[in-house]
Amino acid sequence: MLPVKKNGCEFMLDGKKIIFSGMQATGTLTLGNYLGALKNWVQLENEYECFYCVVDLHSITVRQDPAELRKRARALLTLYIAAGLNPEKNCIYYQSHVSAHAELSWILGCFTYMGELSRMTQFKDKAAKHSGNINAGLFTYPVLMAADILLFQSDLVPVGDDQKQHLELTRDIAGRFNSIYGDVFTIPEPYIAKQGARIMSLQEPTKKMSKTDENPNASIYLLDDPDTIMRKFKRAVTDSDNRIIYSDEKPGIKNLIEIYALSTGKGIEEVEKEFDGVGYGEFKMAVGEAVISLLKPLQERFRELEKDKAYIDGIIKANAEKANYYANKTLRKVQKKVGFPERIR
Ligand code: TYM
Repeated sequence: MLPVKKNGCEFMLDGKKIIFSGMQATGTLTLGNYLGALKNWVQLENEYECFYCVVDLHSITVRQDPAELRKRARALLTLYIAAGLNPEKNCIYYQSHVSAHAELSWILGCFTYMGELSRMTQFKDKAAKHSGNINAGLFTYPVLMAADILLFQSDLVPVGDDQKQHLELTRDIAGRFNSIYGDVFTIPEPYIAKQGARIMSLQEPTKKMSKTDENPNASIYLLDDPDTIMRKFKRAVTDSDNRIIYSDEKPGIKNLIEIYALSTGKGIEEVEKEFDGVGYGEFKMAVGEAVISLLKPLQERFRELEKDKAYIDGIIKANAEKANYYANKTLRKVQKKVGFPERIR
C-alpha cells in the first residue's frame, strides 16, 4: 500500500479517498437506515477507504439497559456485514473501542459555541422527547459526531437527510480549527443520495421512519419476518384518491413509490406507469413483496453470522486495532497543535 499524507498524518490507505459513517445501536435498524445509508455504503467499498462505526458512545445520551445495548451493538455490527460490507475492506468497529473519539470530542468542544449547539434540530427534538433527561451529552452530541468524522481525515460522509445539519456543523468546527492551527483536518463533504435520503413513517408519512418510534407499525425493521412486513405495508396510511402518483400532496403514496423504486431498482416514472390504474391495496402488496425479497438475503446472512461468534470477535479485534492506529495519528497531531506536552517514549 502507498502511504498517503493527509494534513501531516500518514495514512497507509492505498491513495483512496476516505469515507466515515456510523449508526446508533438504539433500537433495531429500519428500512430507512438501510435505504438512506447502509445500502449506499455497500456500493462505495471499492472506490474509497471506508470506516463504519457502531456509535455506542452516542447511544447513552438516552438511558439504555446495559445488557440490551451490548446486544444491539453487536447485532448492528453484524448487520453491517450481513448487508454486504466486507469487513476486510471496510473498517467496521465499535466507537467505545477507540478512545480517541472521546478525547478529540473534548478538544473540539472547546471550539464549538453554545449557540451553534442550541440550533441543532435533532437536539430540540430529542430534548422534547426525553424531557426528564436533557443531559449535557445530548447537547454536545454533534461535537462527538464531528470528532468521529474528523479523526479519520474523512473526505465523504454518506448519511440520510436528517444528519445534514450535523455535517454542516462538523465542517464549521473543522474550518475554525484549521484557521487557527493550519491545515489539520480535511473538510468533509456530505454524501446524501437523491432518493431514499428520508424514508417516512408508514403511519405518519410526514414524519421520518425511526428506530425508536413508539408505534411498531410505523417502521419496517430489517429483521422483521415476511408476514410482519406485509401486514405493516397493508396498514400503511395513504390518502383516499386511489391513484399511484409521486406527489408531495400524497406523502403516503410518495413514500411507498420511493420504497418500491429503491427496492426493485426501477425509476419513479417507471413505477407510476407500472401501477397506472391499479388500486392501493394491490400496490401495497407489491411494495411488501419487493421489500421482503430485498431483505431476504440480508436476513439469511445475519442468522448465519450470528452463530459464528469467533468470526465476529476476530473482526471486532482486528478492526479496532486498525481504527485506533489511524485515529491516534490525527489525535496526536491535534494534541500537539493545541499545546499539550509531548509524550516521553
Ligand atoms: P442514526 O443511527 O439515527 O441513523 C443512521 C443512518 O441512517 C440514516 N437514516 C435515514 N435515512 C433515510 N430515511 C430515514 N428515515 C432515516 N433514518 C435514519 C441517518 O441519516 C444515518 O445516516 N448521529 C448519527 C450517527 C453518527 C454518525 C457519526 C453518522 C454518529 N457519528 C458520524 C455519520 C458520521 C445517527 O444518529 O444516525
